[in-house]
Amino acid sequence: MDKHLLSINDLSASEAIQILNTASELSKISDGPMKKLPTLRGRTVVNLFFEDSTRTRISFESAAKRLSADVINFSAKGSSVSKGESLKDTAQTLQAMGADAVVIRHGASGAAQRLADSGWISACVINAGDGTHEHPTQALLDAYTIRSKFPDLTENFNGLKVAIVGDILHSRVARSNVLLLTKLGAKVTLVAPPTLIPVGISNWPVEVSYDLDQAIKNVDVVMMLRVQSERMAASFFPSEREYSRGYGLDLARLNSLNSSTIVMHPGPMNRGLEISAESADSHKSVVLAQVANGVLIRMAVLYQLLGGAALTGEVSA
Ligand code: CP
Repeated sequence: MDKHLLSINDLSASEAIQILNTASELSKISDGPMKKLPTLRGRTVVNLFFEDSTRTRISFESAAKRLSADVINFSAKGSSVSKGESLKDTAQTLQAMGADAVVIRHGASGAAQRLADSGWISACVINAGDGTHEHPTQALLDAYTIRSKFPDLTENFNGLKVAIVGDILHSRVARSNVLLLTKLGAKVTLVAPPTLIPVGISNWPVEVSYDLDQAIKNVDVVMMLRVQSERMAASFFPSEREYSRGYGLDLARLNSLNSSTIVMHPGPMNRGLEISAESADSHKSVVLAQVANGVLIRMAVLYQLLGGAALTGEVSA
């Protein structure tokens, strides 16, 4: 991996697998009596969040603390950003506080790249979601979760069939997952109403379907996406009821899945819209495993980017 993690395109397939393997090693250590490793002692990780987040921000914080790094949490709300302070001045202020890694979430696609390319800071930059562009650590934690449920997948995902369903147009999660899952060899089908499929989809390495019932027959993974109403300036479907009828994972569709099929959702979920409560809470759902695995993957990414000391034999008191 380079100095930064801005996109799944920054990783080769073997580098992605290496991150999953590092997360597996960290999982074994985390299951032991000592939860905290001294690996990043003396390092500072800044969480720079210009958009709301629950899972990503908290899991980066937890990951950094489990590796003994110091953590500074910055949220645009309540900061001097509301007084007009620029990204440059904000970043340089944090750099002056000694940041070794900056985890950035921003509403603008390309914001993480801008920060990394700017020369404003010397810290590693990790993209925690930029506009509708990418969310690479989400895709890595999703791949880790899939691998944990299909143990035959070790070095690649050849033969795995994945349906990604819903608001593809606004989804950075979909983009990063398409890049990573196809890089690892999975077959990906995107399922959405035509209005929520991006222009230029024919250049993506995926199949496209407008028929959810057909598309989820015989897939291994159904990944439901949140309808991102906050990014919708216009109406993309006639009504929530109609969207749910056409593209929601309800109980009937859940019951039609193969017994080994898993249901994923990156969260936060709109229960009753893209996913019913029965589906979200069913034994097929791995939503909470995704959240738990997010900490391991973010530990692995921080560990690799910040060049932590060896993992074994150094458990702190
Ligand atoms: N999946 C995800 O990015 O969730 P948050 O917005 O809560 O971080």
